[in-house]
Amino acid sequence: MNQLNRFSLSVLKTRNNLPEIIAVTSGKGGVGKSNLSVNLALLMSRMKKNVLLIDADIHLGNVDLLMGIRPKYSIADVLNGSVPLKDVITKGIGGIDILPAGSAVIEMLNSEDKILQKIGNSFSEFEHEYDTVIVDTGAGVHNSVMSFVVGADKIILVVTPDPASIADSYGMVKVIRNTNQEVPIVMISNMVDTEENGESMFKKMNLMVQRFLNSSLVYGGSLLKDNLIQYSIQKQKPISLFYPNSMPVNSLRMITRRLMKMPITDAKKRDSFFDRFMNYKNVEIQSTNG
Ligand SMILES: Nc1ncnc2c1ncn2[C@@H]1O[C@H](COP(=O)(O)OP(=O)(O)OP(=O)(O)O)[C@@H](O)[C@H]1O
Ligand SMILES: [Mg+2]
Repeated sequence: MNQLNRFSLSVLKTRNNLPEIIAVTSGKGGVGKSNLSVNLALLMSRMKKNVLLIDADIHLGNVDLLMGIRPKYSIADVLNGSVPLKDVITKGIGGIDILPAGSAVIEMLNSEDKILQKIGNSFSEFEHEYDTVIVDTGAGVHNSVMSFVVGADKIILVVTPDPASIADSYGMVKVIRNTNQEVPIVMISNMVDTEENGESMFKKMNLMVQRFLNSSLVYGGSLLKDNLIQYSIQKQKPISLFYPNSMPVNSLRMITRRLMKMPITDAKKRDSFFDRFMNYKNVEIQSTNG
């Protein structure tokens, strides 16, 4: 093969193999986003997907804690120019890669477009190595990572039976739909006491969304409140790796399979992760009251 052909083949491969981006978010904090993100990533990896998990929670990034790893660098080191982006990616357990961004995300969002472009360019050099990128975002509509959320291929919205979580989730759907009417929003009912209650919580939320926002949600499944989940988080042992035959992991597996069966954006139509983010970066994410 001559040099030119080899070059165009590699460009083609890069263009056609951009990963699917899944953003995990919630209206209210502490509802189980990070636990879900880590275990989804691990279970997808078991199903032969190459997964990159980005910890983009600006308040308390804790994917590393959940996985019991200590990354050497973070995005902050990329921003000050001391480390190339690729070196920030840490090999997690269970075959997944982790990009710890944490509070440096704010700094990144506020940096000049020139710097962002540079980060974007280095990201696009290796993003085609992944099938899926899971972004664990912070809670709430006011966080600055909303541009990651609305630019995703799928949004996972984690909701618990707590009335504040239900009200804030509805607010979150409203804000997302003000900016992006198309992106599927997959609701996961977490910390419910039965599967039936989880499904009925989804139906109620979906009715409100249909009635008042003229849109709809997709049911992603339920995860029961379970002490083993709490225990595995405390011990920094992701449940899907350390207790693969437990009840919660069965539910997590069902959620993962359901997600993987959902239609995905045509890979050829996908933009690079950073381009999408840049597209929405300057869009006023509209937050409305009521
Ligand atoms: N299904 C569950 N059963 C029991 N406890 C759970 C479950 N899911 C989450 N938790 C508890 O909720 C706590 C918060 O979980 P997690 O850190 O994943 O939430 P989060 O939404 O990422 O929080 P934050 O908004 O602070 O980032 C965990 O420490 C755990 O104790
Ligand atoms: Mg979290």
